Amino acid sequence: MTEPDFLTATRTSYDTMAADYTEFIRGELAALPLERAMLAAFAELVLSDGGGPVLEVGCGPGRITRHLHDLGLDAAGLDLSPGMIAQARRAYPDLRFTEGSMLELDLADGALAGLVAWYSVIHLPDDRLPAAFAEFHRVLAPGGHLLLAFQVGDEPMHRTDMWGRPVSLTFHRRRPEEVALLLHAAGLDVHARLCREPQGVDGRLESTPQACLLARRPSGDRR
Ligand SMILES: C[S@@+](CC[C@H](N)C(=O)[O-])C[C@H]1O[C@@H](n2cnc3c(N)ncnc32)[C@H](O)[C@@H]1O
Repeated sequence: MTEPDFLTATRTSYDTMAADYTEFIRGELAALPLERAMLAAFAELVLSDGGGPVLEVGCGPGRITRHLHDLGLDAAGLDLSPGMIAQARRAYPDLRFTEGSMLELDLADGALAGLVAWYSVIHLPDDRLPAAFAEFHRVLAPGGHLLLAFQVGDEPMHRTDMWGRPVSLTFHRRRPEEVALLLHAAGLDVHARLCREPQGVDGRLESTPQACLLARRPSGDRR
């Protein structure tokens, strides 16, 4: 089957700018106490339910996978872009990183205790979100936890140049309440929402508010 154009464009774009993105994002989390709090809450929830495998989908350079590992989780990363996977493996050779798409995870039903999509569903068009959330629901065990982060807004932003490199990348900004409805429709219960104003990070001001949602597959959900 041929791949949809948006996946090819996203992969090629991140391959093209893998080193630039890795350098750009390296120290970002240190400036974001609220995001660190959501990641810590996610880790505590997974661990208090007995732990188990956690996958970061769209892991890019692996810094969030590494952070999850440092919080005590059995964390691995998956990304569409081989260039990003190479960056992640180089930086964190002790962790597992694999190539693949979050839309078709090579995992058994109920395989994961937790799944994190940290600024990666932002590259899925609206009509692909229900399929992505259905896939997250499928691979999470009953009682498993999901953490999403994304930019808040109504209009997508398209970039054709990043760090002087030619790309074709769309950033889909969304409303937390709309994303929560789609998660609910996929059988995932949203129980915590962070929405914060743009802040300065490394001398630049973020262009949108930022959101994190914590959700869970109900423990009695055996379908
Ligand atoms: C903005 S970066 C975020 C990377 C990482 N989560 C972080 O915060 O450092 C988005 C990443 O999602 C990946 N990505 C986009 N669509 C994907 C898909 N369908 N499946 C897997 N990875 C995807 C991109 O290749 C890119 O590495």
